[in-house]
Amino acid sequence: MFSLQNKIAVITGGGSGIGKAISKLFAKQGATIHIIELNAAAAQHTVEEINADGGQAFAHTADISKQPEVLQVFERIGVINILVNNAGIAHVGNLEGTSEADIDRIYSVNVKGAYNALYAAVPVMKAHGGGVILNMASIASLVGITDRFAYSMSKGAIYAMSMSVARDYMADNIRCNSISPARVHTPFVDGFIAKNYPGKETEIFEKLSKSQPIGRMGKPEEVAALALYLCSDEAGFITGCDYPIDGGFIKLNN
Ligand SMILES: NC(=O)c1ccc[n+]([C@@H]2O[C@H](COP(=O)([O-])OP(=O)(O)OC[C@H]3O[C@@H](n4cnc5c(N)ncnc54)[C@H](O)[C@@H]3O)[C@@H](O)[C@H]2O)c1
Repeated sequence: MFSLQNKIAVITGGGSGIGKAISKLFAKQGATIHIIELNAAAAQHTVEEINADGGQAFAHTADISKQPEVLQVFERIGVINILVNNAGIAHVGNLEGTSEADIDRIYSVNVKGAYNALYAAVPVMKAHGGGVILNMASIASLVGITDRFAYSMSKGAIYAMSMSVARDYMADNIRCNSISPARVHTPFVDGFIAKNYPGKETEIFEKLSKSQPIGRMGKPEEVAALALYLCSDEAGFITGCDYPIDGGFIKLNN
């Protein structure tokens, strides 16, 4: 079960955190991995780990917010079966704490970046009998979270975009779903704690861990396991759905 033998998978942001865990697991299950990353060294590191483990992976340096760069990379890759739109960036702030530059930056990477990869991937999938798309949303797509104005906007767009693509390309044998994680312990989390709460790192880490009723943050590998299921042939009946993976955050926080 859950074999990805003979599949070609593109994973954005595969140099770190959740994207790295997905890249490694998909490679282990037999897929050839193409990582699209801004951070060339990080992507190369993931590729080396995969290749050392007997898998096959390639790194492509690109900024997903830049359409010409993204189109060029997809042209180089050719046929693909799986796209995981995972790369994303964070922003902490309410409406008044969100400048025009902040909203443009979050929109460019989190929304337009996903669109750019979809725009490049879908025609290729259509021309080759179909494919599977998985977009990384967030619990911020689904519930109100303090001080996440721009980030919530971007992840709400991912949630809606996934349904739109699922609907429009069902007849082309393309499935499209999203995952909505609560806090997952990755460099993304460590980075924004360090940036936004300097000197209070331990206290904020504890607080963020306890915001999941289960009492801890998720692990990237746990998100990767759900991603594997949704991108496998075993999930062939699933499209247009969002899957929270949240330690009880949405339904049990009362
Ligand atoms: N970690 C969490 O708690 C959490 C929770 C919910 C959703 N998410 C989402 O999961 C995804 C991955 O998060 P993570 O925690 O693994 O993050 P991370 O920061 O550890 O990794 C993200 C990767 O994306 C790359 N990236 C960023 N901007 C890029 C760009 N413009 N072009 C190409 N690559 C770019 C980074 O270089 C990095 O390697 C994000 O979309 C994030 O919003 C994370």
